[in-house]
Amino acid sequence: MTEQNTPLNLLHTFRLPGFARVVHFLRDKKQCSELPTENYLVVGHGSNTIFTADFERPLVRVELSGIDVSESDSDWLLDVAAGESWHQLVTYCLNKGFFGLENLALIPGTVGAAPVQNIGAYGCEVAQFIDSVEAWDRQQRCFVEITHQDCQFAYRDSVFKQNPERWLITAVRLRLPKQWQPNTRYAELNDLMNPTAEQIYQRVVAVRQAKLPDPQVLPNAGSFFKNPTISAQHYQALLQLYPGLKGYANADGSMKLAAGWLIDQRGWKGVKRGTIQVHQHQALVLVNTDNGCGSDLLDMAKAIKKDIEQHFSIALEVEVRLFNQRELIQI
Ligand code: EPU
Repeated sequence: MTEQNTPLNLLHTFRLPGFARVVHFLRDKKQCSELPTENYLVVGHGSNTIFTADFERPLVRVELSGIDVSESDSDWLLDVAAGESWHQLVTYCLNKGFFGLENLALIPGTVGAAPVQNIGAYGCEVAQFIDSVEAWDRQQRCFVEITHQDCQFAYRDSVFKQNPERWLITAVRLRLPKQWQPNTRYAELNDLMNPTAEQIYQRVVAVRQAKLPDPQVLPNAGSFFKNPTISAQHYQALLQLYPGLKGYANADGSMKLAAGWLIDQRGWKGVKRGTIQVHQHQALVLVNTDNGCGSDLLDMAKAIKKDIEQHFSIALEVEVRLFNQRELIQI
C-alpha cells in the first residue's frame, strides 16, 4: 500500500510535525521487487529516527510479520519478520521459555531495526544472539542472507548502519542457547541473586520505566548521543578533576564514558529550550514537550555538544538517525 503526504508524527516516536511525501507500507516480502529504484529510506517504528523537516524521499515502512521457531539439541532458533515489535518478541520468548533476551526488554522499535544499531542495554547487545540477517539487496535486487560475521557488529554499529542505502532487512534469525545463564553484571541488576529470566525481565522493565520516558506519553527517541570512547590518559586527566566520572574499560584499554553523566554534570538535566527538553531523569534523552520544532531540537543538540566539547574535550556523536528533508545530518 502506498500513501501520499502522510503526517510524520505517525512515523517517528519523537513526533516532530511535518509530512512524508510518499510512504510505501511493506506487508509482504514479495513487494520488495516492486519498490522504486529511487533512494528510499527504510523505517520500522521510527523510534531511533528523527525527522526535523518534511521528508521528500520515499519512505518504506516495514510491517512484515511472523515468527517461526525451530530447534537444535543446544539452541532455539527464531526466524522473526522485520516488522515484529522487539519488546513483544522479548515477552513472547520469555513466555515460551526461550531465555536470553530479557536484558533487552522494553527497548522500543522493530526486530528489523535491532541489528542496524545493534541495540544494547543492561550488559547485553543483540549481536550476541544474531545468527544471520535476511535482507533485500537494493543494488543486486535479490534476497541475501548476511552471516553474523558479515554484520560487523560493534557498539551501536553494524554493516547496515555503515551502508544505509544497501539493504532492506526483512527478517532476523536469532539463536538462543537452551543452557541459560542470568546476566546480572550491570549495576542495576547486581543485587539479584540467582534470578529467573522473569525476574531479570521485571527488573529491566522497572528500571527503564523509572528512568526513560515512555515515547507514547512524552515523545522521544531514547539516547540522543552515543557514549563516547576516550583514551586511558584522557580519562585519568578527567578523573583528577571529576572524581565521580563514570567510565568503563574497553578491551583495548580505552575508556567508554557515560554521556548522560557528562551532560548531567554540566547542569543540563531538565533544561528546556523552546519545545525541547533534556529529560528530567536521564540527561542523555531529549524530549519533545509540545508539538516541537526541528530547529529547536537542532539548537539544543548543538548547544549540548559544544558545551561538552569545551569542558571535557570530548566530541559527542549523535546516536539517533537525524534527517533533514533528504539526508542524514550530523551536528
Ligand atoms: N548518569 C547520570 N546522569 C544522567 C544519566 C546517566 O549521572 O542524567 C549516570 C548513571 O547514574 C550511570 C551512568 O551514567 O552511572 C550510565 O547511565 P545509564 O545506566 O542510565 O545508561 P546510559 O549509559 O546513559 C546506555 C544506553 C541505553 C541503555 C542503558 C542501559 C547508550 C547511548 N545508551 O545509557 O540505551 O538503555 O545504557 O544499559 O549506549 C538507547 O540507546 O536509546 C538507550 C536508551
